[in-house]
Amino acid sequence: MNHVLVTGGAGFIGANFVRLVSAQRPDWTVTVLDKLTYAGRRDNLAGLDARLVVGDICDAELVDELVREADAVVHFAAESHNDNSLRDPSPFLQTNVLGTFTLLEAVRRHDKRLHHISTDEVYGDLSLDDPARFTETTAYNPSSPYSATKAGSDHLVRAWARSFGVRATISTCSNNYGPYQHVEKFIPRQITNVLAGLTPKLYGTGEQVRDWIHVDDHNEAVLLILEQGRIGETYVIGADNDHVNNKRVIELICELMGAGDYEHVADRPGHDQRYAMDSTKLREELGWVPKYTDTDMRAGLEQTIAWYRDNEAWWRPVKDATERAYAERGQ
Ligand code: NAD
Ligand code: TYD
Repeated sequence: MNHVLVTGGAGFIGANFVRLVSAQRPDWTVTVLDKLTYAGRRDNLAGLDARLVVGDICDAELVDELVREADAVVHFAAESHNDNSLRDPSPFLQTNVLGTFTLLEAVRRHDKRLHHISTDEVYGDLSLDDPARFTETTAYNPSSPYSATKAGSDHLVRAWARSFGVRATISTCSNNYGPYQHVEKFIPRQITNVLAGLTPKLYGTGEQVRDWIHVDDHNEAVLLILEQGRIGETYVIGADNDHVNNKRVIELICELMGAGDYEHVADRPGHDQRYAMDSTKLREELGWVPKYTDTDMRAGLEQTIAWYRDNEAWWRPVKDATERAYAERGQ
């Protein structure tokens, strides 16, 4: 494998993946296909030796040409924010479902390896007092337009693997955090609120649990699955942080940044309560071990806070508009 096509590679996780590949596989050629929606940015790839093609994964002609040139495709491109999917689900259907279909058809035609990035949210949620964790065999039960379209894309990938022999793997990962994450998401929103002199905002009571993972740990797993994963398999990715609720995360951010109080704002309709991942298969079969293993997320949060502190020019231009959109919904 020496030429990888990375869809959505100008977004948060994709750009961090391109950075990781550049460092760890310097002989690979990387092409990024990204539409540069509000979530994708050319400067996320600054300083990297990757070719950026600005285009849509629903553009069958363009996708066909780029897939033909590559040895493998890592598919990150998606509409990714639950709150946006509640406002307008249509781009989620378009990109997450039709875009994945378009990519699958090209991968099938040219017999290329595909790794599809998915999310724990396809499994729905657990109740707060349920100690269970999601595994590769947990039934799909998505709650929001975002997670329903991600579930739809996973089903398509499995069907194309079984019906047409597409050489695909899937990973379902928990909530990521780290550098280059859009300030609409929970952790960067609170960090930049503090940096901008605004009050951090917690939805509802903040008892919800996300099994937070640092983006580098996620991407190390993706690279491992791409190179060594068994074709046709799904791998759950998670770093065992399912004991940390949103309230604890916001309190820790305030503590680490020396900030005062936070405020409770309107809860998200249909808010998923608890996600928890059992990544035994990935650890035992492929030997994956996360690097950020402290049980209170302190090291990963300190690194992330430092990045936002040092990169105000990256987040400042989009902060006001993001906060205005939240304010309109009382959040
Ligand atoms: P993001 O929103 O930051 O980035 C998505 C990227 O896809 C952007 O660069 C955007 O421009 C691009 N894109 C959107 N529509 C496109 C289209 N039609 N054609 C080409 N490019 C398009 O998202 P992210 O947080 O980096 O998530 C990446 C992937 O990982 C998604 O598939 C998401 O479902 C999955 N995932 C995310 C998380 C998380 O916590 N963020 C957790 C698990 C899985
Ligand atoms: P988010 O980052 O939107 O990810 P997801 O919806 O994929 O889990 O939200 C993470 C959690 O944080 C979720 O339980 C909602 C909550 N949240 C807040 O409490 N305040 C906020 O400002 C945001 C954006 C999210």
